[in-house]
Amino acid sequence: MVKILVTRQVPNRFIEQLEQLGDVKMWEEAFEPMPRAQFLKEIEDVDACFITLSETIDATCLEHAKNVKIIANMAVGFDNIDVELANHKGIVVTNTPQVLTETTAELGFTLMLAVARRIVEAEHYVQNGEWKSWGPYLLSGKDVHGSTVGIYGMGDIGKSFARRLQGFNANILYHNRSRHEDAETQLNATYVPFDTLLAESDFVICTAPLTPETENKFNKDAFSKMKNDAIFINIGRGAIVDEEALIDALNNQDIGGCGLDVLREEPIQLDHPLLKMPNAIILPHIGSASVATRDHMIQLCVDNIAAILKGEAPLTPVTNK
Ligand code: GLV
Repeated sequence: MVKILVTRQVPNRFIEQLEQLGDVKMWEEAFEPMPRAQFLKEIEDVDACFITLSETIDATCLEHAKNVKIIANMAVGFDNIDVELANHKGIVVTNTPQVLTETTAELGFTLMLAVARRIVEAEHYVQNGEWKSWGPYLLSGKDVHGSTVGIYGMGDIGKSFARRLQGFNANILYHNRSRHEDAETQLNATYVPFDTLLAESDFVICTAPLTPETENKFNKDAFSKMKNDAIFINIGRGAIVDEEALIDALNNQDIGGCGLDVLREEPIQLDHPLLKMPNAIILPHIGSASVATRDHMIQLCVDNIAAILKGEAPLTPVTNK
């Protein structure tokens, strides 16, 4: 009998679909990952594996994964997986592109507006009983409309973000490893070198995947080139940012604020300096977290597993970084 491992609790209706294909073992926790040692043991005799971003599929793990034919990653990013090695061992890796694009862009947009208009600070101000009267510059922020917004990473999510800006009369700049003519012609986005994006943007939005090329891209040098009141938003991956440099940039007022949905270490330690900064909004990696989108992501993982176990082509394979 085929064996399928699911490393996080998902609704029964998805498990029932997988049970049509084989024996299913599900880790029953919704918010806690399976301990690594247990994962390495469990993966030893399974044929298919449904994982989340909490599982690292490296050489050690792949040595244990003797029978695995498919690793279905419930995420569009796949920096948690050594895809090359997995593919080399004949294992298909799949991700969940497209189904989460709009939801993730929406979260990025929410974060940008929230930092720009100091929404979290304002809510705390009310909750703490500090609100005494209306004031001319009380909790005054920064306009997104009419501003220059620089998008680093013009993939599906970057484009979706740029689409959302269309009603804001914004000047859209972008930087990407290759140019996207559709973004230029349909979304009025202008391709610029990275340094120009940094220097000219009022808002800098990172939607890029983590690769050797993007790791630590937002470092001391990058923050020093940004406007002193620029707002930096990251919905890509935490390791694209040198967090020490970001903290210094916020402290030295080299930039005006930040909104991060992704962190180098997740979950963030409670004593992390970023959590003490009034002009930083930190979210727990919820870019794709609408119920409908999470349903679609789980279904896509199930469909990919079904395809492979039936000897068909996967729907959304990942082949390289
Ligand atoms: C989430 O970060 C994803 O890659 O889907």
